[in-house]
Amino acid sequence: MEILRTVSEVREWARRQRTAGRAIHFVPTMGYFHEGHLSLMRRANADGGAVIVSIFVNPLQFGANEDLDRYPRDFERDRLMAESVGVDAIFYPEVSEMYPPGYQTEVRVKELSKPLCGRSRLGHFEGVATVVLKLFNIVTPDRAYFGMKDYQQLRIIEQLVQDMNLPIEIVPCPIVREPDGLAMSSRNVYLTPEERAAATVLYRSLQWAQAQVESGERNALKLREGVYERLAAEPLARIDYVEVVDAETLQPVERVVRPTLIALAVFFGKARLIDNCVVCP
Ligand code: PAJ
Repeated sequence: MEILRTVSEVREWARRQRTAGRAIHFVPTMGYFHEGHLSLMRRANADGGAVIVSIFVNPLQFGANEDLDRYPRDFERDRLMAESVGVDAIFYPEVSEMYPPGYQTEVRVKELSKPLCGRSRLGHFEGVATVVLKLFNIVTPDRAYFGMKDYQQLRIIEQLVQDMNLPIEIVPCPIVREPDGLAMSSRNVYLTPEERAAATVLYRSLQWAQAQVESGERNALKLREGVYERLAAEPLARIDYVEVVDAETLQPVERVVRPTLIALAVFFGKARLIDNCVVCP
């Protein structure tokens, strides 16, 4: 496995893969790997191509009061985990390699960035879209893998690829969960044992909503209120939002008649956790 630190090293690596007739499969990450990240890498590998993973804690997507400085990092551990699932190369740039002095361009996917997490994390999705477009231009992948855990991010990247005519196939991957249902996240390390136990309420609330839809409930407000009540019953949970939206446009719906996203964001102490599920009538 190769460790690439500069843009020109990645370009050279990509050139070699193409010369060897291999497709390039790309998994962008911020590191501190868990099974969610590894599931993307395994999928990229199983799809048969040269697999490259980026590890870059992107300052542009963190707000002033967010956790950029304490975001967990462990390159040595990540390196071993990536190697164990057959990754061919890691792109691990310095901030100055991605944003040299004088850097000034930002990319905005206008409508999809506004609702849900866009409301409480101003500028976040501009930071995501910008770094992902840069990474795509550096890596030149044939396919790129994104988790449905960050559903809004996935939709924004799909729209970016469509709008900018990028010749890249975006592959959505299912959410990987702990045995008790908590969605895996690098930010779960912020949870105290009490908060960690309480955080199972997220998945339980989503499962309740999913069961409601399966037994015929179509009223979005009822689903939203039911999820809200379940979360609110947990004293350690501070709700940011619960939304029932169209799974494609992310605009609120009144009834579940098309694929519909039930998405939530909840604070437990210092940690802001997100989770979601897509339900179909
Ligand atoms: P990060 O949070 O490290 O996530 C990297 C990828 O792993 C994303 O596509 C995310 O959706 C996926 N992922 C995280 N937890 C998952 C889980 N439990 N199950 C399945 N997939 C999961 O998302 C980012 O980094 C950044 O915003 C990035 C796209 C790299 C841009 O900086």
